[in-house]
Amino acid sequence: MINGEKKIERPLRWGMIGGGRTGQVGYKHRTGALRDNTNYRLVAGAFDVDAARGRDFGTNIGVPADRCYADYKTLIAEEAKREDGVEVVSVATPNFTHFEITRACLEAGLHVICEKPLFFTVAECLEIEKLAESKGLIVGVTYGFSGHPLLHQMAAMVKKGMLGDIRIVDIQYTHGFNSGDDTNASEAQQWRTDPKRSGPTFVLGDIGTHIYYMSQVVLPHMQVARLLCDRQSFIKSRAPLEDNAYVLSHYDNGAVGRLWVSSVNAGNMGSQRFRFVGSKASVEWSDSHPDQLIYEVQGQPNQVMHHGMPYLEDESLAIDRMGGLHTEGLGDSWANIYLWIAQAIDSKRRGDEAFLSTHHYPGIKAGTDGVRWLENCVRSADAGSAWVDFQ
Ligand SMILES: NC(=O)c1ccc[n+]([C@@H]2O[C@H](COP(=O)([O-])OP(=O)(O)OC[C@H]3O[C@@H](n4cnc5c(N)ncnc54)[C@H](O)[C@@H]3O)[C@@H](O)[C@H]2O)c1
Repeated sequence: MINGEKKIERPLRWGMIGGGRTGQVGYKHRTGALRDNTNYRLVAGAFDVDAARGRDFGTNIGVPADRCYADYKTLIAEEAKREDGVEVVSVATPNFTHFEITRACLEAGLHVICEKPLFFTVAECLEIEKLAESKGLIVGVTYGFSGHPLLHQMAAMVKKGMLGDIRIVDIQYTHGFNSGDDTNASEAQQWRTDPKRSGPTFVLGDIGTHIYYMSQVVLPHMQVARLLCDRQSFIKSRAPLEDNAYVLSHYDNGAVGRLWVSSVNAGNMGSQRFRFVGSKASVEWSDSHPDQLIYEVQGQPNQVMHHGMPYLEDESLAIDRMGGLHTEGLGDSWANIYLWIAQAIDSKRRGDEAFLSTHHYPGIKAGTDGVRWLENCVRSADAGSAWVDFQ
């Protein structure tokens, strides 16, 4: 169980780029990083594309005014002059800015925690992997719900063979927030449907990368070998970017998969759902009931497992924060992800490569894999929803 006691030498000096007053995801980053008083201190930021609003916001959340910068370049330059300057920054800005900001931060010797989809192309990801490696720096990626104890319970059950051989992967991340057209759309919605600012996809990158990564956490022994992607723009002005997509997968162990992502699933609020079907049993978990895991053994009554209960696997109990009886949710999951990235940065700083070699966290490879999956989806969709070998 995690209770906030220190797990790294000292808190990291942390800055944020983006995630300001109007940003959708900024608070989730702060919820994750600052949950434990032992991992990060928020000391600086370039929180907003509007410099005055960013400074006002930053001081309102307790960052000294002289460390609320007008833009990320000034943050990097000014913080480099200080002995107590930032060591790690989070990038919570629209997709088209991730690559240039991440590269500039790494070049300045800063660790980076970046939003997904990481970049537009695999080539960009590989360039950043190389740069981070040469500088001895960590890049973390915030796949938000991937730190939930019940996701890791499913992974442990699969590893133990409790499901038998995995045959079917059935996953979904859908909502209906974009069911109407984009007249009067928020700034966050406008950039998401503009290929220059969102990248080659909308919902596949925006929400599909989350569940693709989370399924890999549960099934690390399986890789997608081939896939077929069918994507639609129900609101025509969004074309070529999709607001709905289906991806069928064939895995290298013979399993098959079905993934549905949508922002036009009108009325839907229980957005993420995972079902893993094995030769003996199945598990199912959804964020509409995040405390409960359904375990179905063929021929036996179904079981509902609750997070934090002693009958769960050690891997799940070790990362539980609230304990059974009390709700464990998205904020707790973000706190785990931020903790794991802090541990990676701390071990990098101390040169502890042995720890890093077995330490699990969403890093640059997970970010790259997400972008690679997107490239394969687009290649398939553009070929008329043809099956393509995963490259
Ligand atoms: N991990 C998750 O669960 C999750 C959830 C939502 C969004 N996201 C991702 O987070 C990123 C941001 O999404 P959002 O929905 O918060 O977007 P948003 O448009 O709501 O907010 C973007 C924020 O970044 C600021 N900004 C924009 N350009 C900037 C720049 N050059 N320098 C400094 N600040 C700048 C804006 O002022 C705003 O505060 C996207 O990549 C998105 O895919 C991830």
